[in-house]
Amino acid sequence: MIHEPVMKDEILSISEERSSSGTFIDCTVGEGGHTAFLMDAHPEWSFYGFERDDDIFAAVSARFGERSKIFHDSYANILEHFESVSAALLFDLGVSMYHFKTPGRGFSFNDDDDDLDMRFSRSTPMTAADILNGYGAEELRKMLERYAEMMHPEPLVEAIMRFRKKRVFLKVMDIKECLSFMHRRGKTHPLTTVFQALRIETNGELHELEKICTLLLERTASFSGSLFMFISYHSLEDRTVKSAVRELVARGHAEAVNKKVIKPHWKEVSSNKASRSGRLRAFNIL
Ligand SMILES: C[S@@+](CC[C@H](N)C(=O)[O-])C[C@H]1O[C@@H](n2cnc3c(N)ncnc32)[C@H](O)[C@@H]1O
Repeated sequence: MIHEPVMKDEILSISEERSSSGTFIDCTVGEGGHTAFLMDAHPEWSFYGFERDDDIFAAVSARFGERSKIFHDSYANILEHFESVSAALLFDLGVSMYHFKTPGRGFSFNDDDDDLDMRFSRSTPMTAADILNGYGAEELRKMLERYAEMMHPEPLVEAIMRFRKKRVFLKVMDIKECLSFMHRRGKTHPLTTVFQALRIETNGELHELEKICTLLLERTASFSGSLFMFISYHSLEDRTVKSAVRELVARGHAEAVNKKVIKPHWKEVSSNKASRSGRLRAFNIL
């Protein structure tokens, strides 16, 4: 399954209207959906990219190697690769369809026999299994509260602690067995949010987002003339971006493109369910 780029028409029109640099940096290249779409629309632009995942980086470099310089690194390290940046930058946060659809990585609760890994990069020290086996009850509670947005994660934490007394977490089926008492209430399977929390924690995803926002606030002049576009899929991500934009605007260092967050059109949501929680914020650094 190919990753369908979210809000691609909005990204194209904002880039055309608000950026004149002719340089596009796809800070989360993934399978290259946005990059390919923009390359088709603007073959005259220069393209760069960042991708943290080992396997996706290898695939996307092979795909765009001639046409785009892609760095195997977190976008938060952007100033280690460029002295200063004047470009249109896209951050399409989270994971790619590849992560869910490719067995062997532990991202999907449908792949029972997968190791509970979930790391983007094999150089990341802790896997999701290490977190489940090693975190204390308080750390597990905080992780589920923050990243699964659970008000009362205590029964889950107790179940994890009980499971650990019997055996270690190793496979996807272990966490499913441990939390089998959770029943589906709405449209979303309850394990979806547990897996999301484990993935965000394993990869320090929010930490990387906070790092780029701090960099923007502390080294604003290094990004002068740039257009930033963030697509978030989680309220914590959106709140982090929103507060950075507010601060930059208050300091007179940025101009927001959209006052209200942009949501995908219903037509896009009906043809691509994965886009439904996408929220876009864009702003120019002055
Ligand atoms: C939602 S996908 C991007 C999809 C892409 N826009 C497309 O249309 O094909 C997000 C990608 O960003 C990568 N990623 C996540 N955090 C990252 C980071 N801090 N730096 C660079 N890449 C990151 C993930 O591995 C994933 O491939």
